[in-house]
Amino acid sequence: MFISFEGPEGSGKTSQIRLLAAFLREQGCGVTVTREPGGTRIGDQIRTCLHDVANQEMVPTAEFLLYSASRAQLVGELIRPTLAAGGVVLCDRYADSSLAYQGYGRGLDLQDLLTITAIATGGLKPDLTFLLDLDVERGLARRRLGGEEMNRLDLESVRFHERVRAGYHALAAQEPHRWRLVNADRPVEEVQADLQQVVNDTILSRCPK
Ligand code: TYD
Repeated sequence: MFISFEGPEGSGKTSQIRLLAAFLREQGCGVTVTREPGGTRIGDQIRTCLHDVANQEMVPTAEFLLYSASRAQLVGELIRPTLAAGGVVLCDRYADSSLAYQGYGRGLDLQDLLTITAIATGGLKPDLTFLLDLDVERGLARRRLGGEEMNRLDLESVRFHERVRAGYHALAAQEPHRWRLVNADRPVEEVQADLQQVVNDTILSRCPK
């Protein structure tokens, strides 16, 4: 079972994933948590390059290909082997982030992105994708308040992040069976309760007790 988590900046994905992983482990599921970009030694090197605020001259296509390279490594090295062994993978961002940020945000051609993504992932898609949805300004403010380091993408304009959010909504509407839209502008426990409910209804029956 492969579950990805998407959403704009400051939507609280990382804490939600940590809590959901603990919940799934209590239910007897073998869980692997990973993230994009990164998640592997090679991916982490690519992440450093992508997020370096000094890399202002990076062109959108190079940016997309670097995210894709990190993704190819993560799928080959970690995700596919984990799924083959019957494990559950929780991934903080996956290919939909590229469609939202590099496609809807930067304006790269979506068909081109899909073609290259199919090569990078060998066609592997999540079984379930949570969209932790939140107003853009609220999310950016949360991130600043949390004292988190701002990466190159965080520093983009509010307009850019609005396009990303609208992109996510468009992607979710195209594949409603895969996506679950969750209002992330609520206390952590309430958001977590929604995630656990969905997971209870969809995957727990498949985990060995
Ligand atoms: P990260 O620090 O992991 O932030 P977050 O907590 O928001 O996930 O940084 C990931 C950043 O990279 C985030 O700004 C979104 C961006 N991104 C893309 O633009 N395209 C992609 O394909 C991926 C995976 C991430």
